[in-house]
Amino acid sequence: MSAQLAAKHLISIDDLDRSGIEQILDRAESFAEVAGREIKKVPALRGRTVVNLFYEASTRTSSSFELAAKRLSADVVSIRSAGSAVDKGESLKDTIHTLSAYDPAAIVIRSPHAGAAQLVAGWTPASVINAGDGKHEHPTQALLDAFTLRRRLGSLDGLNIWIVGDVMHSRVARSNILAFNRMGAKTTVCGPPTLLPRGIGALGCRVTPVLTGIDQADVIYVLRMQQERMREAFVPSLREYAARYQIGAGHLGPGQLLMHPGPVNRGIELSADAIDSPQALIGDQVKAGVAVRMAVLYELLAHAPALAAAA
Ligand code: NCD
Repeated sequence: MSAQLAAKHLISIDDLDRSGIEQILDRAESFAEVAGREIKKVPALRGRTVVNLFYEASTRTSSSFELAAKRLSADVVSIRSAGSAVDKGESLKDTIHTLSAYDPAAIVIRSPHAGAAQLVAGWTPASVINAGDGKHEHPTQALLDAFTLRRRLGSLDGLNIWIVGDVMHSRVARSNILAFNRMGAKTTVCGPPTLLPRGIGALGCRVTPVLTGIDQADVIYVLRMQQERMREAFVPSLREYAARYQIGAGHLGPGQLLMHPGPVNRGIELSADAIDSPQALIGDQVKAGVAVRMAVLYELLAHAPALAAAA
Protein backbone atom coordinates (compact mmCIF):
# COMPACT_ATOMS: atom_id res chain seq x y z
CA MET A 1 0.00 0.00 0.00
CA SER A 2 2.73 2.42 -0.90
CA ALA A 3 1.16 4.06 -3.96
CA GLN A 4 -0.22 7.53 -3.42
CA LEU A 5 -3.83 8.30 -4.15
CA ALA A 6 -4.01 10.15 -7.45
CA ALA A 7 -6.61 12.55 -6.07
CA LYS A 8 -6.09 15.56 -3.84
CA HIS A 9 -9.81 15.96 -3.20
CA LEU A 10 -12.66 13.49 -2.74
CA ILE A 11 -15.63 15.08 -4.50
CA SER A 12 -17.04 12.07 -6.33
CA ILE A 13 -16.48 8.31 -6.45
CA ASP A 14 -15.33 9.10 -9.99
CA ASP A 15 -12.15 10.51 -8.38
CA LEU A 16 -11.18 6.92 -7.50
CA ASP A 17 -10.55 3.84 -9.58
CA ARG A 18 -10.97 0.37 -8.10
CA SER A 19 -7.45 0.29 -6.70
CA GLY A 20 -7.97 3.73 -5.09
CA ILE A 21 -11.14 2.44 -3.41
CA GLU A 22 -9.32 -0.69 -2.26
CA GLN A 23 -6.45 1.38 -0.91
CA ILE A 24 -8.90 3.33 1.28
CA LEU A 25 -10.74 0.16 2.39
CA ASP A 26 -7.47 -1.57 3.28
CA ARG A 27 -6.37 1.45 5.27
CA ALA A 28 -9.77 1.52 7.00
CA GLU A 29 -9.18 -2.08 8.12
CA SER A 30 -6.11 -0.98 10.05
CA PHE A 31 -7.98 1.98 11.56
CA ALA A 32 -10.89 -0.29 12.58
CA GLU A 33 -8.33 -2.02 14.79
CA VAL A 34 -7.58 1.33 16.49
CA ALA A 35 -11.29 1.57 17.42
CA GLY A 36 -10.90 -1.63 19.42
CA ARG A 37 -8.11 -0.19 21.56
CA GLU A 38 -8.64 1.52 24.89
CA ILE A 39 -6.75 4.61 23.65
CA LYS A 40 -8.36 5.20 20.26
CA LYS A 41 -5.80 7.61 18.88
CA VAL A 42 -2.86 7.62 16.47
CA PRO A 43 -0.54 10.57 15.82
CA ALA A 44 -0.84 10.56 11.99
CA LEU A 45 -2.28 14.08 11.60
CA ARG A 46 -0.75 15.75 14.65
CA GLY A 47 -0.37 19.47 14.00
CA ARG A 48 -2.72 19.44 10.96
CA THR A 49 -6.11 21.16 10.99
CA VAL A 50 -9.39 19.73 9.71
CA VAL A 51 -12.43 22.00 9.26
CA ASN A 52 -15.87 20.39 9.15
CA LEU A 53 -18.43 22.69 7.55
CA PHE A 54 -22.01 21.42 7.65
CA TYR A 55 -24.70 23.46 5.91
CA GLU A 56 -27.27 20.69 6.19
CA ALA A 57 -28.63 18.43 8.93
CA SER A 58 -26.33 15.56 9.91
CA THR A 59 -25.84 13.18 12.82
CA ARG A 60 -23.76 10.25 11.56
CA THR A 61 -21.60 11.95 8.94
CA SER A 62 -20.68 14.98 11.06
CA SER A 63 -19.99 13.01 14.25
CA SER A 64 -17.92 10.38 12.45
CA PHE A 65 -15.83 12.94 10.54
CA GLU A 66 -15.16 14.75 13.81
CA LEU A 67 -14.21 11.54 15.62
CA ALA A 68 -12.11 10.41 12.67
CA ALA A 69 -10.06 13.62 12.61
CA LYS A 70 -9.65 13.56 16.40
CA ARG A 71 -8.53 9.93 16.44
CA LEU A 72 -5.85 10.92 13.91
CA SER A 73 -4.77 13.67 16.38
CA ALA A 74 -5.70 16.57 14.07
CA ASP A 75 -6.98 19.88 15.42
CA VAL A 76 -10.64 19.98 14.49
CA VAL A 77 -12.99 22.91 13.98
CA SER A 78 -16.63 21.95 13.39
CA ILE A 79 -19.02 24.58 12.07
CA ARG A 80 -22.73 24.31 11.46
CA SER A 81 -24.46 26.88 9.30
CA ALA A 82 -26.93 27.65 12.12
CA GLY A 83 -25.14 29.91 14.58
CA SER A 84 -22.28 30.77 12.18
CA ALA A 85 -21.72 33.93 10.13
CA VAL A 86 -23.73 32.20 7.35
CA ASP A 87 -26.74 33.25 9.45
CA LYS A 88 -25.52 36.81 9.01
CA GLY A 89 -25.46 36.46 5.24
CA GLU A 90 -21.83 35.52 4.60
CA SER A 91 -21.43 33.74 1.26
CA LEU A 92 -19.90 30.27 0.94
CA LYS A 93 -16.92 31.74 -0.92
CA ASP A 94 -16.22 34.30 1.80
CA THR A 95 -16.63 31.65 4.50
CA ILE A 96 -14.09 29.40 2.73
CA HIS A 97 -11.62 32.28 2.36
CA THR A 98 -12.03 33.09 6.05
CA LEU A 99 -11.47 29.49 7.15
CA SER A 100 -8.55 29.05 4.73
CA ALA A 101 -6.71 31.71 6.75
CA TYR A 102 -6.19 28.99 9.40
CA ASP A 103 -4.30 26.94 6.79
CA PRO A 104 -6.39 23.78 7.19
CA ALA A 105 -5.11 20.57 5.61
CA ALA A 106 -8.69 19.56 4.81
CA ILE A 107 -12.14 21.07 4.57
CA VAL A 108 -15.04 18.62 4.87
CA ILE A 109 -18.21 20.15 3.45
CA ARG A 110 -21.89 19.20 3.40
CA SER A 111 -24.20 21.46 1.43
CA PRO A 112 -27.77 21.35 0.09
CA HIS A 113 -26.40 22.46 -3.29
CA ALA A 114 -25.11 19.99 -5.89
CA GLY A 115 -21.65 21.04 -6.98
CA ALA A 116 -20.78 22.95 -3.79
CA ALA A 117 -17.78 20.77 -2.87
CA GLN A 118 -16.32 21.19 -6.36
CA LEU A 119 -16.65 24.98 -6.06
CA VAL A 120 -14.99 24.96 -2.63
CA ALA A 121 -12.03 23.04 -4.09
CA GLY A 122 -11.43 26.01 -6.38
CA TRP A 123 -11.40 28.49 -3.51
CA THR A 124 -8.96 26.91 -1.04
CA PRO A 125 -5.52 25.28 -1.09
CA ALA A 126 -6.87 22.63 1.35
CA SER A 127 -7.96 19.12 0.34
CA VAL A 128 -11.75 19.12 0.03
CA ILE A 129 -13.90 16.16 1.05
CA ASN A 130 -17.52 16.04 -0.08
CA ALA A 131 -19.74 15.00 2.84
CA GLY A 132 -22.85 15.26 0.65
CA ASP A 133 -23.74 17.95 -1.92
CA GLY A 134 -27.46 18.19 -2.55
CA LYS A 135 -28.66 15.21 -4.54
CA HIS A 136 -25.34 14.81 -6.35
CA GLU A 137 -22.87 12.63 -4.39
CA HIS A 138 -21.86 11.35 -0.96
CA PRO A 139 -18.65 9.44 -1.67
CA THR A 140 -17.64 8.58 1.91
CA GLN A 141 -21.04 6.94 2.45
CA ALA A 142 -20.40 4.72 -0.57
CA LEU A 143 -16.93 3.85 0.73
CA LEU A 144 -18.21 2.91 4.19
CA ASP A 145 -20.94 0.80 2.59
CA ALA A 146 -18.41 -0.99 0.39
CA PHE A 147 -16.22 -1.49 3.48
CA THR A 148 -19.17 -2.95 5.45
CA LEU A 149 -20.01 -5.40 2.65
CA ARG A 150 -16.40 -6.40 2.03
CA ARG A 151 -15.95 -7.09 5.75
CA ARG A 152 -19.07 -9.23 5.85
CA LEU A 153 -18.74 -11.07 2.54
CA GLY A 154 -15.04 -10.85 1.66
CA SER A 155 -15.66 -9.18 -1.71
CA LEU A 156 -18.30 -7.35 -3.74
CA ASP A 157 -17.42 -9.17 -6.96
CA GLY A 158 -20.54 -10.63 -8.57
CA LEU A 159 -22.93 -9.42 -5.84
CA ASN A 160 -26.50 -8.63 -6.89
CA ILE A 161 -27.34 -5.38 -5.07
CA TRP A 162 -30.76 -3.71 -5.17
CA ILE A 163 -31.07 -0.03 -4.22
CA VAL A 164 -34.72 0.70 -3.39
CA GLY A 165 -36.58 3.96 -2.79
CA ASP A 166 -36.21 7.66 -3.58
CA VAL A 167 -33.39 7.35 -6.11
CA MET A 168 -34.21 10.74 -7.64
CA HIS A 169 -33.16 12.81 -4.62
CA SER A 170 -30.46 10.48 -3.32
CA ARG A 171 -26.78 11.40 -3.44
CA VAL A 172 -26.17 8.06 -1.70
CA ALA A 173 -27.69 6.19 -4.66
CA ARG A 174 -25.43 7.97 -7.17
CA SER A 175 -22.22 7.39 -5.22
CA ASN A 176 -23.14 3.83 -4.30
CA ILE A 177 -24.02 2.76 -7.84
CA LEU A 178 -20.59 3.98 -8.97
CA ALA A 179 -18.72 2.39 -6.05
CA PHE A 180 -20.57 -0.94 -6.12
CA ASN A 181 -20.03 -1.27 -9.87
CA ARG A 182 -16.37 -0.35 -9.59
CA MET A 183 -16.00 -3.09 -6.96
CA GLY A 184 -17.51 -5.70 -9.29
CA ALA A 185 -21.15 -5.84 -8.14
CA LYS A 186 -24.26 -5.69 -10.34
CA THR A 187 -26.67 -2.98 -9.24
CA THR A 188 -30.41 -2.63 -9.76
CA VAL A 189 -32.27 0.53 -8.75
CA CYS A 190 -35.96 0.27 -7.93
CA GLY A 191 -38.62 2.81 -6.95
CA PRO A 192 -41.78 4.56 -8.12
CA PRO A 193 -41.30 5.75 -11.74
CA THR A 194 -41.59 9.38 -10.55
CA LEU A 195 -38.58 8.84 -8.27
CA LEU A 196 -36.35 7.16 -10.89
CA PRO A 197 -34.42 9.94 -12.63
CA ARG A 198 -34.22 9.75 -16.39
CA GLY A 199 -30.79 8.59 -17.50
CA ILE A 200 -29.83 6.94 -14.20
CA GLY A 201 -29.14 3.70 -16.11
CA ALA A 202 -26.16 5.46 -17.73
CA LEU A 203 -24.35 5.06 -14.40
CA GLY A 204 -24.32 1.34 -15.13
CA CYS A 205 -27.34 0.01 -13.25
CA ARG A 206 -30.49 -1.87 -14.16
CA VAL A 207 -33.66 0.15 -13.52
CA THR A 208 -37.07 -1.21 -12.53
CA PRO A 209 -40.24 0.20 -10.96
CA VAL A 210 -41.26 -3.13 -9.38
CA LEU A 211 -39.85 -5.27 -6.58
CA THR A 212 -40.23 -8.45 -8.64
CA GLY A 213 -36.96 -10.37 -8.52
CA ILE A 214 -35.71 -8.76 -5.31
CA ASP A 215 -35.72 -12.22 -3.72
CA GLN A 216 -32.61 -12.89 -5.88
CA ALA A 217 -30.70 -9.94 -4.38
CA ASP A 218 -27.72 -10.57 -2.14
CA VAL A 219 -28.08 -7.10 -0.66
CA ILE A 220 -31.14 -4.84 -0.36
CA TYR A 221 -30.06 -1.22 0.14
CA VAL A 222 -33.01 0.95 1.15
CA LEU A 223 -33.13 4.75 0.75
CA ARG A 224 -34.99 7.36 2.78
CA MET A 225 -37.74 9.44 1.19
CA GLN A 226 -35.95 12.82 0.96
CA GLN A 227 -38.97 14.98 1.68
CA GLU A 228 -36.79 18.02 2.35
CA ARG A 229 -35.76 17.96 -1.33
CA MET A 230 -39.28 17.51 -2.74
CA ARG A 231 -41.09 20.60 -3.93
CA GLU A 232 -43.99 18.63 -5.38
CA ALA A 233 -45.79 15.37 -4.62
CA PHE A 234 -43.84 12.50 -6.21
CA VAL A 235 -46.07 9.80 -4.69
CA PRO A 236 -49.81 9.92 -3.96
CA SER A 237 -49.13 9.49 -0.22
CA LEU A 238 -46.48 8.04 2.06
CA ARG A 239 -48.97 5.34 3.01
CA GLU A 240 -49.31 4.29 -0.58
CA TYR A 241 -45.53 4.40 -1.04
CA ALA A 242 -45.10 2.20 2.02
CA ALA A 243 -47.72 -0.25 0.79
CA ARG A 244 -45.83 -0.77 -2.50
CA TYR A 245 -42.16 -0.30 -1.66
CA GLN A 246 -41.63 -0.74 2.07
CA ILE A 247 -39.16 -3.51 2.85
CA GLY A 248 -40.28 -5.69 5.75
CA ALA A 249 -38.72 -8.72 7.41
CA GLY A 250 -40.95 -10.80 5.12
CA HIS A 251 -38.94 -9.63 2.09
CA LEU A 252 -35.67 -10.82 3.57
CA GLY A 253 -34.40 -14.32 2.98
CA PRO A 254 -32.00 -15.75 5.56
CA GLY A 255 -28.97 -15.15 3.32
CA GLN A 256 -29.89 -11.63 2.25
CA LEU A 257 -28.39 -8.50 3.80
CA LEU A 258 -30.23 -5.23 4.50
CA MET A 259 -28.59 -1.81 4.45
CA HIS A 260 -29.76 1.80 4.93
CA PRO A 261 -27.58 4.94 5.25
CA GLY A 262 -29.75 6.38 8.03
CA PRO A 263 -31.66 8.23 9.26
CA VAL A 264 -34.47 5.66 8.84
CA ASN A 265 -38.09 6.71 8.62
CA ARG A 266 -39.50 3.76 10.53
CA GLY A 267 -42.72 2.49 9.01
CA ILE A 268 -42.17 4.24 5.66
CA GLU A 269 -39.28 2.74 3.70
CA LEU A 270 -38.51 0.06 6.29
CA SER A 271 -40.69 -1.76 8.79
CA ALA A 272 -39.58 -2.06 12.40
CA ASP A 273 -39.13 -5.83 12.08
CA ALA A 274 -36.74 -5.36 9.13
CA ILE A 275 -34.65 -2.77 11.01
CA ASP A 276 -34.33 -5.13 13.95
CA SER A 277 -33.75 -8.26 11.84
CA PRO A 278 -30.48 -10.21 11.99
CA GLN A 279 -29.97 -9.43 8.28
CA ALA A 280 -29.70 -5.67 8.98
CA LEU A 281 -26.21 -4.14 8.76
CA ILE A 282 -27.32 -0.62 9.71
CA GLY A 283 -25.31 -0.52 12.95
CA ASP A 284 -22.22 -1.92 11.16
CA GLN A 285 -22.51 0.88 8.58
CA VAL A 286 -22.46 3.56 11.29
CA LYS A 287 -19.48 1.92 12.96
CA ALA A 288 -17.60 1.69 9.67
CA GLY A 289 -18.05 5.44 9.19
CA VAL A 290 -15.30 6.38 11.62
CA ALA A 291 -12.64 3.96 10.30
CA VAL A 292 -13.41 4.78 6.66
CA ARG A 293 -13.33 8.56 7.23
CA MET A 294 -10.05 8.16 9.11
CA ALA A 295 -8.74 6.31 6.06
CA VAL A 296 -9.94 9.01 3.65
CA LEU A 297 -8.33 11.78 5.73
CA TYR A 298 -5.15 9.74 6.07
CA GLU A 299 -4.83 8.83 2.41
CA LEU A 300 -5.50 12.41 1.26
CA LEU A 301 -3.36 14.15 3.89
CA ALA A 302 -0.78 12.04 5.71
CA HIS A 303 -0.05 9.59 2.96
CA ALA A 304 0.31 12.20 0.22
CA PRO A 305 1.67 15.29 1.96
CA ALA A 306 3.18 16.65 -1.23
CA LEU A 307 -0.18 16.52 -2.96
CA ALA A 308 -1.99 17.96 0.03
CA ALA A 309 0.47 20.82 0.28
CA ALA A 310 0.25 21.75 -3.39
CA ALA A 311 -2.19 24.55 -4.18
C1 NCD B 1 -27.65 10.30 3.95
C2 NCD B 1 -27.44 11.71 3.45
O1 NCD B 1 -27.33 12.65 4.23
O2 NCD B 1 -27.38 11.84 2.24
N1 NCD B 1 -27.44 10.12 5.31
C3 NCD B 1 -26.18 10.01 5.83
O3 NCD B 1 -25.24 10.67 5.42
N2 NCD B 1 -26.03 9.07 6.78
C4 NCD B 1 -28.95 9.75 3.52
C5 NCD B 1 -30.21 10.43 3.99
O4 NCD B 1 -30.19 11.50 4.59
O5 NCD B 1 -31.26 9.85 3.73
